[in-house]
This record gives sequence, structure tokens and C-alpha cells, in this order.
Amino acid sequence: MIRTPLITVMVQAVRKAGRALIRDFGEVENLQVSAKGPANFVSAADRKAEDTLFQELSRVRPGFSFLMEERGRVEGTDSANEWVVDPLDGTTNFLHGIPLFAISVALVRNGIPYAGVIFNPVTDELYVAEKGQGAFLNDRRLRVAARRTLIDSVVSCGLPHLGRGNHGQFNRELAAVQTKVAGLRRTGAASLDLAWVAAGRFDAFWERDLEAWDMAAGMIIVREAGGYVSDLDGGDKVLEKGEVIAGNEDIRRDLLALLKGA
Ligand code: IPD
Ligand code: CA
Ligand code: CA
Repeated sequence: MIRTPLITVMVQAVRKAGRALIRDFGEVENLQVSAKGPANFVSAADRKAEDTLFQELSRVRPGFSFLMEERGRVEGTDSANEWVVDPLDGTTNFLHGIPLFAISVALVRNGIPYAGVIFNPVTDELYVAEKGQGAFLNDRRLRVAARRTLIDSVVSCGLPHLGRGNHGQFNRELAAVQTKVAGLRRTGAASLDLAWVAAGRFDAFWERDLEAWDMAAGMIIVREAGGYVSDLDGGDKVLEKGEVIAGNEDIRRDLLALLKGA
């Protein structure tokens, strides 16, 4: 595990927000049976988690800027250092009582992810990375999967749904990929997709129409686990374009070629 001052403060913040989220998740399971459902309760839990992260991170690093899903951009006196925060990634899962969601916090320095923490409070899985320090899942050092061929690979993806994304483009990409891989998955939490690539569970992941807070922490975690992350043209404008493909060197390259040909 990395014990730098930076990772220590990030971990404290996500653990604190995670304790409240876990309590709220318990309540969501009860609210499923009510006629109104848990939707309002979940958006309150989301905002509360973001408030906790905002307060904790501004206290320990006054002046750093923020990009947060709910509040948007909050300029600090230090614009080179920006916290990029998704207080609850996997909201739809959370709302439906599916225990696959996470808090995602990145420190982006001069536009490039420098440190990241992704925490699933249900499984108590804490993924951390800082530039040059490696990537860890709890105390275990992470390494991306070593598989070299798509036919052996399990690939995760985003799935456009009602009102979201380009369905025609996705369907073409899916048709190109699904006959070439060992398995396809869709978790519903992009931060965990990237964390699971870093952990070697997924060989690759791609998704379009994401936001910086879905990806920034996962990008540094994958890179520090020895993986490769790019946009869907193979460039480094992941955060700007809101699209990502990640995996080991060979699988990312081969999957990207399939998607480009779709
Ligand atoms: C969503 C999740 C999901 C992805 C969506 C995101 P949210 O984030 O990461 O996996 O497919 O595009 O918006 O809304 O749950 O924070
Ligand atoms: Ca998200
Ligand atoms: Ca969110």
C-alpha cells in the first residue's frame, strides 16, 4: 500500500464518505419496496457524499481546485492541482440495490491524472495509485492481465441506454467485438471497470460519453498497474473527449483496431 501524505489524505476522505454511503445503501434496500422508490433518497446520499469529500479535501489541501459531478468546477487559488471527484459512480446500481458502485477521487495535475483512489465500500476494495508509486488493491500490488490475444480476453464496455449515447455506433462496435472475445461485461460503474482492468480481472474496457470524474482516478490506476489508456483515436485526450479504452499494450491496440474498423 502507498503511504505518501497525498494518498493518506485521499484515503481518509473516501473512507469517511464511504461509511455514510454504506449506511444509505442499507436504507435503499428497504426503500425498494416502497411505492415512491428510493430515487430522492439516493440523490440526497450522492450530494451528502460529495459534501463530505469537498470538506475533507479542502481542509487538507486548501487552495486546490475541484471538478465535482454535482457542484461542477470550483476554482481554487491553485489551478494546477485539481481534485476530480465522482462521489457515487454507479448510481443506477446503487438505486437498484446492486452492490457495484464506488467513490472515485483523482488528483489531476496540469491536466494529467497524478493520483487516484477508487473505493467500493460494500466489498471494502480500495484501489490506489500515485505516479511512480505503483497501483494497489488494499495491500496487494496490481498488475494488468498478461493475456495477449482477444480470443482469451474478457472485455468490459459501456452500454448506451435510454436517452444516452449513439446507439447505432455502439451496435456496430459490439457486432465487431462480440465474435472476437471470450466474454463481454457491463458493470455500470466506469471507475470500477478501469480499476478491474488494473486488477487484471478485465483484459480491456472501452466506453464513450463519459465525464472526467468517471475516468481520471482509473486512468492513473491502470497506468501504474502497467496498462495503457487512450482515447478512441489512440491519443491522450481521454478527459477532453470523454472516451476511453484501457488494457495491456497488445489487447488495447487490437481492440482499438476492431472498434475503428466497425
Ligand atoms: C455512470 C457510470 C456508468 C457509465 C455512465 C456514467 P454515474 O456514472 O460510470 O458505468 O456507463 O456513463 O454516467 O452516473 O453512475 O455516476
Ligand atoms: Ca460516474
Ligand atoms: Ca456519479
